Parts: sequence; C-alpha cells; structure tokens
Amino acid sequence: MIFTIAVDGPAAAGKGTISRALAEAFGFAHLDTGLLYRAVGAKAGDPVAAARSLSPEDLARDDLRSMAAGQAASVVAAIPEVRAALVAFQQDFARREGGAVLDGRDIGTVICPGAEVKLFVTASAEVRAHRRWLEVGGDEAQVLAEVKARDERDMNRADAPLKPAADSILIDTSTLSIDEAVAQAAAIVRRRLG
Ligand code: DC
Repeated sequence: MIFTIAVDGPAAAGKGTISRALAEAFGFAHLDTGLLYRAVGAKAGDPVAAARSLSPEDLARDDLRSMAAGQAASVVAAIPEVRAALVAFQQDFARREGGAVLDGRDIGTVICPGAEVKLFVTASAEVRAHRRWLEVGGDEAQVLAEVKARDERDMNRADAPLKPAADSILIDTSTLSIDEAVAQAAAIVRRRLG
C-alpha cells in the first residue's frame, strides 16, 4: 500500500511526537525532514554541495538537535538549490511501499501535494518556546525570541515557505496533552484509511 501522511508546522508544535506515534500506530516508515536541513546546516563548506552529497553518517551526528543547529538549518533551508537537492529523496521515501509519515514545513504544499492525509500542527509561540525551554534550559525569553526568529524566516522565505496546504487539517496543540493530540491525528488517519 502507498499512503503518505504529511505533517507540517512550526518548530516545537509537536510534529515529531505526533509523526512518530502515527508511524508506530499504523506501521508506517517515518522521515523527520528537518534532520536533512539540520545536517546540511551543520556541514562545513558550501551548503548546496553539502545537500547534494548528504550521507547517512551526516544524519547520524549527535549535535543536530541543538537550538543552534535549528537556526543554521533554517538559514540553509532558504536556499532554493539546497531544497531542490533534497526533493527526490523525500518524494521517494513518501511513496515507498507500506506507508510513510513525513514531518517538516513544506511536505503537504511542495514535496507531497497529493498526500493522502495532510496535517498542520501548530501551537502559540509562547507555548512552543516554553516546551523548548524545558528541553534546553537557559533564558526562556531568549528561547522565545529564537522560536519567533525561526518562524519568521521559515514563513517568509520565497521558496516553499511554511504555510498550511489548502486541504490540510489543523491541529492546535496549545492546550492539548500529547495523548490528546496523537488521538486527534490518529482518528483523522483512520477515517481516511476507511
Ligand atoms: O523541524 P526542525 O526544527 O528540525 O527543522 C529545522 C529547520 O529546517 C526549520 O527551521 C526549517 C527547515 N525545514 C524546512 O525548511 N523544510 C522542512 N521540510 C523541514 C525543515
């Protein structure tokens, strides 16, 4: 069976958690596409060359989850040639046999416009910054500023900006527990699977 679930939304909205839970529940493969941009941002030298030569070892680095790696990813993700170099890999992954969940910023709009299910997972900037701050610590106001800066860059770039696909279903996790958010998402997928 070919079945793609596209999960888009801003940083720390809960996309990753929901995507992993859906993959587990339905036995689908999962791709965190943010990791591709994080790996490109973390590589030295020309980001376009880095994107074209991305290897499994690049994706296995243990420093890709930091706030700094997220900001660097957001910067290289605005370069059209970087995005273009990563399209085929993501599309092949999405249409693999057995079903796939991809989370990112442009999955429902650009990478998989024909995805069977499109979710747009969001939450207020304050709630998302608070969640990030619980993970990384430090100054919460600074974390909020960084979350807002990344939103701004991801939403306003010319190529594949972060925005909900017209046919996406919105899940606002601001006041939901993880279990509630996952249950909403799973019910949508179940309905579409029939
Ligand atoms: O989901 P994340 O925080 O790991 O993503 C890091 C950055 O990568 C994000 O700020 C923007 C970019 N990104 C993107 O442009 N398109 C995607 N599909 C996924 C991530």
